[in-house]
Amino acid sequence: MLFRRFASTTARRLPPTIQQLLAREPDPQTILTVTGHIKSVRKQKRVAFAAVNDGSCPEGLQAVLSPGDAHALTNGCSVRLTGRLVQSQGRGQAKELQVDKCDVVGTCDPEAYPIQKQALTTEYLRDHVHLRPRVESIASTLRVRQCVADAIHDYFRYEGFTQVHPPIITGNDCEGAGETFKLSPVAHRAGSSLPPTEFFDRTAYLTVSSQLHLEAFAHAIPRVYTLSPCFRAERSQTNRHLSEFWMLEAEWGFIDRVGDVCDIVEDAVKHILNHPRLVGDLELLWSNADAERKQGVLQAKGATPWARMSYAEAVKELEKAKQKFEFDPVWGKPLQSEHERWLADEVVKGPVFLTDYPSGLKPFYMRANDDGKTVACFDLLVPHIGELVGGSLREERVDLLDKAMAHHGLDRGDYSWYRDLRVYGGAPHGGFGLGFERLIGWMTGIENVRECIPFPRWADRLLL
Ligand code: 4AD
Repeated sequence: MLFRRFASTTARRLPPTIQQLLAREPDPQTILTVTGHIKSVRKQKRVAFAAVNDGSCPEGLQAVLSPGDAHALTNGCSVRLTGRLVQSQGRGQAKELQVDKCDVVGTCDPEAYPIQKQALTTEYLRDHVHLRPRVESIASTLRVRQCVADAIHDYFRYEGFTQVHPPIITGNDCEGAGETFKLSPVAHRAGSSLPPTEFFDRTAYLTVSSQLHLEAFAHAIPRVYTLSPCFRAERSQTNRHLSEFWMLEAEWGFIDRVGDVCDIVEDAVKHILNHPRLVGDLELLWSNADAERKQGVLQAKGATPWARMSYAEAVKELEKAKQKFEFDPVWGKPLQSEHERWLADEVVKGPVFLTDYPSGLKPFYMRANDDGKTVACFDLLVPHIGELVGGSLREERVDLLDKAMAHHGLDRGDYSWYRDLRVYGGAPHGGFGLGFERLIGWMTGIENVRECIPFPRWADRLLL
């Protein structure tokens, strides 16, 4: 599916991308220009075939040219080809470019070019992260990211949400887990009264979650969401943790059941999974992955409602499991990733919302349940990944919020603006945060979130 352009005041147009070109009918009368990188060249006596791609689609374009023109082509070089789009004579593609003129724009030494045709290891590609978007599967992942972002915007706009832009630099640690990156200037302003490590009038951090700011927006605009970068100084070296990742967060008011938040999460994720523009890239990515995982995702995007169980029920399930866990499941203790995986992979065999965790395991802002022990929250677990989404109702009762802040050792002064939201016409509200790279990993079968983001960052690793 291609985009339509709205009325424009200028007649200037960029030349078509290969994706746009392939959507056209073959027309031997029209001269076209195509630009891109050469992926492979096959020379025969009278004719040569070059696979050229500009990253706009998984297929790329077959160019048919004279062996003389093909002589200068090497893997990785960039080209400008002029020719006509015709019906292909060969198998494997419907259309091809009959080339009249071939210009090599940038040469590439095939001996030195790090992106060779044979399969390259994940680790090798991480070491060549600036060139890896030229690898088909990585380019597909980048297009999937774009498509998922589009689907998110479609969904939330349709549901009456406004996209807002919360700050990246903040004065607080939303999750209270002490995983914030502290910000300090490299150069110090002469004559400043601030200590040399400070720039602002208080300690500044990179945001771990935009939630608290979204709550401020949600008290003025009925429904808000953001897709923004988040930063966490977690040392966990797992296949689902990054130091810089993107989070979809939404917040809205006038709700009183945590199940209402789960409903929107399930609906939004199913909408994303069913986006028609994903099909080609998903096919390519799933061809490298486990068929059982693919089946699981196909099942999840269907109409059957996803499972829901309370944390207490989940602990009971874990207690009766035949599996020997490294950490015994005990009410009041955090669920480990081995527990989460067992519940989603083996017990439910699909996505599952776990609700109502003990208050001691969760941040200060979650709304207390009437039992005095648990909070109105959920984690959405999916097979092979574990936690994909976390969300809750937020505590709107000032007395209970004060108690929770005191319990978590938070300074009320630091959060006076957050209290104001309740004091001045506060309303029951809730929301959630979904890890964008974890979603990409789940829906594509990619093993590690480091392959789901163009320039991954993790502890001890900041290549460029
Ligand atoms: O469960 P979390 O910590 O929830 C929050 O931050 C809430 N304040 C969000 C909200 O209610 N607005 O994180 C939400 C999601 C997780 O479920 C996970 O998918 C992802 O963010 N996430 C990470 N993804 C990659 N690398 C990390 N280090 C991540 N930490 C969390």
